[in-house]
Amino acid sequence: MSGTVLILGATSAIARGTAAAWAQRGYRLYLAGRDVESLRRDAADLAIRYGVAVHFGAFDAAAHDSHPAFLQRVTDEMGELEGVLLAFGYLGSQAKAAGDFRETLAIINRNFVDAVSILNLCADHLEQRGRGFIAGIASVAGDRGRQSNYTYGAAKGAFALYLQGLRNRLFPAGVRVLTIKPGFVDTAMTFGMPGLFLVAAPAYVGERIVTAIERGRDVIYVPWFWRWIMLIIRSIPERLFKRLKL
Ligand SMILES: NC(=O)c1ccc[n+]([C@@H]2O[C@H](COP(=O)([O-])OP(=O)(O)OC[C@H]3O[C@@H](n4cnc5c(N)ncnc54)[C@H](OP(=O)(O)O)[C@@H]3O)[C@@H](O)[C@H]2O)c1
Repeated sequence: MSGTVLILGATSAIARGTAAAWAQRGYRLYLAGRDVESLRRDAADLAIRYGVAVHFGAFDAAAHDSHPAFLQRVTDEMGELEGVLLAFGYLGSQAKAAGDFRETLAIINRNFVDAVSILNLCADHLEQRGRGFIAGIASVAGDRGRQSNYTYGAAKGAFALYLQGLRNRLFPAGVRVLTIKPGFVDTAMTFGMPGLFLVAAPAYVGERIVTAIERGRDVIYVPWFWRWIMLIIRSIPERLFKRLKL
């Protein structure tokens, strides 16, 4: 296999699992994130383990004005991109968000606004190229609003809708867009959270993401059974749902 994949938020545990699955298949990688020392270690590890070229560089999703120069830097260094994985995100605290609008804004920005800022540019790049893919990590939380995380859920739901529109726009150009909806995954984001069940390993999720892109899928739930869990949750009538403690 050939081609370069840009990973945004590459220090995420799910991103690391996905990077390993791509490196195993021979893809070149560009790891982007805030913690450059961590990226340096990951890049060296992947390059030694799989014998592929792995570059890395600083990327702050919140610094929108820096995004055009960032993407230019990546393509100057790596040439045209084959694909982009958007993995960064922020769970935040719903309880804190209820009383502190800065927390609300951080959750909405990180999971939606920041993602749109960089993906708009990536979409133009791939559309001009006339091939490739964009994969974005949304969440099952975006399928229905619940009192425990409705700000995060609203941002992820908006992101999923954005990806759907992008898929529709980029289809004629031959660019595929994959929406990824994980359930619970064992990462720093969920560490110590009470009430977790059916928790998946990041390496498993990474392998599922790469396979879904190879198969040209549009939307995946990971693990697969979340599709059916969310179908049941979405089908509960609102007059009953509003009484549940979820
Ligand atoms: N874990 C789950 O159960 C689960 C379920 C559904 C969806 N998701 C989604 O999966 C994605 C990956 O999360 P994860 O579970 O792997 O958690 P994670 O390990 O905590 O990863 C979150 C990543 O977002 C990055 N990030 C946050 N703010 C950033 C910014 N301003 N600029 C650049 N990067 C930034 C973090 O970078 P730093 O290292 O610099 O902080 C970190 O790499 C997220 O979008 C998350 O919402 C996770």
